[in-house]
Amino acid sequence: MEDLSRLFNPSSIAIIGASRDPSKIGSQILRNLVEYGFGGKIYPINPTVDELMGLKCYPKVSDVPEGVDVAVISVPSDKVLGVIDDCGKAGVKFAVVITSGFKEVGKEELEEELVRRAHSYGIRVLGPNIFGYVYTPARLNASFGPKEVISGNVAFISQSGALGIALMGYTIVENIGVSAIVSVGNKADIDDVDLLEFFEGDPNTGVIMIYLEGLAPGRGRKLIDVAARVSSRKPIIVIKAGRTEVGAKAAASHTGSMAGSVAVYESAFRQSGILMAKSVEDAFDWAKALAWNRMPEGENLVVITNGGGAGVQSTDTFADNGVYLKRPPEGLVQEIKRFTPPFASFTNPIDMTGMATDDWYHRATLAALKDPEVHALTVLYCQTAVTTPMGVARSIVDAIKDSGDSKPVTVGMVGGPGVAEAVSFLNKQRVAAYPTPERASAAMSSLYAYARAREYVVRSLGIS
Ligand code: ACO
Repeated sequence: MEDLSRLFNPSSIAIIGASRDPSKIGSQILRNLVEYGFGGKIYPINPTVDELMGLKCYPKVSDVPEGVDVAVISVPSDKVLGVIDDCGKAGVKFAVVITSGFKEVGKEELEEELVRRAHSYGIRVLGPNIFGYVYTPARLNASFGPKEVISGNVAFISQSGALGIALMGYTIVENIGVSAIVSVGNKADIDDVDLLEFFEGDPNTGVIMIYLEGLAPGRGRKLIDVAARVSSRKPIIVIKAGRTEVGAKAAASHTGSMAGSVAVYESAFRQSGILMAKSVEDAFDWAKALAWNRMPEGENLVVITNGGGAGVQSTDTFADNGVYLKRPPEGLVQEIKRFTPPFASFTNPIDMTGMATDDWYHRATLAALKDPEVHALTVLYCQTAVTTPMGVARSIVDAIKDSGDSKPVTVGMVGGPGVAEAVSFLNKQRVAAYPTPERASAAMSSLYAYARAREYVVRSLGIS
């Protein structure tokens, strides 16, 4: 069987069920593929039409004169097996089955037959019951989700279709660049383990995020082994759906998979270095911080703020996550004392007080980043009339550039409408910014959590 390289870097893709009707799913997938700029060959397949979106249409995939690597299938479930037979004839390598109406509605036998038949032709199956997949390095958007996915190095695997599509949109709004978004649906063949193995070796992926409801019987052990190896090189964040008994029941009726015992998953995830997120928000917050920062080289994390309350919230959040703030280095204290009032506070968090200006943010951020004893920095800002959020955001970006260093930084900004714009500006510059001190601090904590997880798997499993 093929490894997954050709699924993500195909020379040609056929869309079986590319419709004349622009509102249908097959038509939407064809449009995304063409308009997102896939560089390989695209073959719409539909027996009732000669041309779609300026591309020649073929009645069957076996009528295409050249080889087809990937067939995206968007025809009703009673037609899928016939289409698979024709894909076999055409030498297709991967079938991406969008169609619903398999195991999730009790049709286990139909799903088993789909895989059995596909495998008899050497075809691997992604799906069924999926919204498609995206791989930005190949400008490949074979999904019926949003088109303009931002490229970056986070790979996102989703067992839920609707949530996955919604989160595709979320990555765009939050300026989170992705390498891949893969809908796995019923996971009849290709599953999280196969994808982890691909992303492990994928130079375009730095962080892997999985929305997981459950695994097929027998795949749990394999997931743990593969995840342990992968997480020694790249962080893996899992949002485990069905953490509660009632949630597990809901998951079972969704993609037909067993959610499994929470305690079992938690312990397995810990053993394999996986970071377990309780919410989608946490997972994306951590992914952003991990994707845009290198790892801290030590425990000396400094927090700079203009508000005591924000500093306290931050301290609590760090402590909740097992990260304890140490006294800031004396050199840094002396430097910041040069421009702050006598009532500024120099425990960690360093509170420059509400008098802090844009320039103070620049000077303090620069001083912290240049101090060899500081390993990581979280900057907090509460909106005041003596600053503008954009002014502070620009000061932070300039200071990062001026420092010539690449220490990890997260930013938390709280306030009115100007703050949202400043947070978005920072994120566009790949400075991980959030609308609360707690989220900025939890995101920075995820770097330390990953450092601990990596150390654990490297040591306990003897991985070098
Ligand atoms: N080969 C090629 N084309 C074919 C074939 C065939 N064997 N058979 C039919 N077609 C054409 C049809 O003629 C039609 O084109 P036309 O509109 O130009 O006539 C096109 O393929 C589509 O066929 P339809 O019968 O119109 O099917 P429709 O598009 O309505 O539905 C679909 C197909 C989308 C796969 C549907 O069966 C389905 O499963 N929908 C759910 C998909 C889904 O939600 N997946 C999970 C995603 S995640 C989430 O929840 C968001």
